[in-house]
Amino acid sequence: MKSILFSLLLFCATFTLRAENGHQLWLRPHPAAPVTVVSSGKNSALLATAKSELQQGWQGRAGATVKLTLKKDKSIKYDGFRLSPQGVEAATEAGLLYGVYELLRRQQTGQPLTEVISNPSYEHRVLNHWDNPDGSVERGYAGKSIFWRQDSSFVVTGRDKALWQQYARANASVGINGAVLNNVNASPMILSADYLGRAKAIADVLRPYGVKVYLAVKFSSPALLGGLKTSDPLDPAVIAWWKARTREVYRQIPDFGGFLVKASSEGQPGPQDFGRTHADGANLLADAVRPYGGLVMWRAFVYSPNDKDRAKQAYNEFVPLDGKFRDNVIIQVKNGPIDFQPREPFSPLFGALKKTAVMPEFQITQEYLGQAIDLVFLAPMWAECLRSDTYQAGPGSTVARCTDGSVYPQKHSAMAGVSNVGLDTNWTGHDFAQANWYAFGRLAWNNTLASEQIADEWLRLTFDNSAPPTANQPAADFNAGFLTPVKQLMLASREAAVDYSMPLGLHHIMSATHGHYGPGPWWAPPGTRADWTPPYYHQAAANGVGFDRTSTGSNAVSQYHEPLAGQLNNPATCPDEYLLWFHHLPWDFKMKSGRTLWDELALHYDHGVQQVRQFQRTWDAARPYVDAERFALVQNKLRTQSGNAVIWKDAGLLYFQQFSHLPIPAEIEPPM
Ligand code: GCU
Repeated sequence: MKSILFSLLLFCATFTLRAENGHQLWLRPHPAAPVTVVSSGKNSALLATAKSELQQGWQGRAGATVKLTLKKDKSIKYDGFRLSPQGVEAATEAGLLYGVYELLRRQQTGQPLTEVISNPSYEHRVLNHWDNPDGSVERGYAGKSIFWRQDSSFVVTGRDKALWQQYARANASVGINGAVLNNVNASPMILSADYLGRAKAIADVLRPYGVKVYLAVKFSSPALLGGLKTSDPLDPAVIAWWKARTREVYRQIPDFGGFLVKASSEGQPGPQDFGRTHADGANLLADAVRPYGGLVMWRAFVYSPNDKDRAKQAYNEFVPLDGKFRDNVIIQVKNGPIDFQPREPFSPLFGALKKTAVMPEFQITQEYLGQAIDLVFLAPMWAECLRSDTYQAGPGSTVARCTDGSVYPQKHSAMAGVSNVGLDTNWTGHDFAQANWYAFGRLAWNNTLASEQIADEWLRLTFDNSAPPTANQPAADFNAGFLTPVKQLMLASREAAVDYSMPLGLHHIMSATHGHYGPGPWWAPPGTRADWTPPYYHQAAANGVGFDRTSTGSNAVSQYHEPLAGQLNNPATCPDEYLLWFHHLPWDFKMKSGRTLWDELALHYDHGVQQVRQFQRTWDAARPYVDAERFALVQNKLRTQSGNAVIWKDAGLLYFQQFSHLPIPAEIEPPM
């Protein structure tokens, strides 16, 4: 009996610890002052959430009255809102909820509560979970899936629901309003009764937070799940099968968001297996979801082993189809033309389509950026993409404006992020990876938001600057001792990762054998598909390094508009960041700095390493402001990152030196 009691106590203690630590994310509880909430709408689930959030989190004047008013207003778009000292006005209940979160965020981060109208840049702000039905997560570094588990009973427990609710709340607090519950490498089983039942249970928990559920589907489901002879998108039986299955999905989940599809890509089945186009495939599903107001997010991540330059293929396949897609199809395009590398130029597809909606896909999970080991804040990387000028309709046609409907009207607009969430106590494996989830939501809401502001908000909310001052942490010191230096660390972290791994436009030179963590520029076992091996991308040889994508090389530059294409085509005007992406240059090529390419490469590698060492010092000095547990976790991870950055630098330099035959510059730390 005693031991049962002891286990129970231990369980409660562990659970409380979890609940008090990482599980709160940026929504850490504060003692709230009393507030009266007056609302004009009927008492719906969303409105109830908004009210309870205000009551739990109010930091304003005790006894104040806040009005939540539903009102049509031309200046309010989608689920936008008007915030004023009196309260929130919005056209939808979700808008009221987002206004409440903005109000509370302002209170907690000490920002003034002036009158402001805030409209989301994108109508749909969606997390893509690469979660498999067996509970594993593809490219997940934070434990198993929060949605699925290898459990044939499909029982939904109270703990499941509690977790999903916390997840939904975190999403809603940053404006995320959709979640694709399963991997793009989809199992046909996702549309079977058991999985649909669980998806319905998840949707029921997410609904009061305004988060819609979507599913990724396998294109060959009619054959694999339905037993049909074919999955040809023009076959009447296939069309009927998708219609019937979709009807069943909506019967269970009336506000279901729609389907996400990876087709004719990396071995996944697709319309091309039947001699049909991406448009034929996407339209089949678009017609099935149309009666219910659903969407199809059709991915453009396509490349084939025969292509001479993988970076060109998506553009080549999709541009001829412009205008052929139904208006409830959005083409989902990864930020760069290859695959979520530490740095890529933006995908030329963003500036290419005029009659087809396009949406950016970012990877929140850090597949190529240090996974859950390296501290890398991704907002600057996404902002770099969103701010890039495509020149599609002249200067100012940024990726942001080409995807949010500002340049060419789009019936629907969206942004997707591949989620980094798992069952780990801190949700994301690395405490600072929570900031990337937060940043995705904030940027999907406002695609021009400064990374500095996002980092500032996240740090203040997550590390609780409003906690009562202690002997160790006088309140006045929080800004100087913690906020400013740690924010600086976050803002520098992505460039540091580029420097110690793939500087100057190098890409895809990571290890294939360690799940894309660490260096592997040499990896090319005989018989492997060339476009999966690093030498295909870096092209290092005695005569130089880099992939020639100029007009005399693969001519990928021609997929960009002028004046950008011309700028990228010329090594003298191509930004250093993209130099070896677009050019194959001799080792002694004279850089803008005056140094040789070889020396510049070495300096970048070394700079990355020195940066991480600086991050370690910054974090060590932040100790008085952080609880012991989070301090130690981050300190340990930084130590590992620092050692691994040296491995990247040494491996990169020693490998490339075999071709350059040049000495390591004296001013950098020599390889070990
Ligand atoms: C990357 C990743 C795969 C994923 C693919 C995709 O290649 O390594 O795991 O399936 O992207 O985005 O579809």
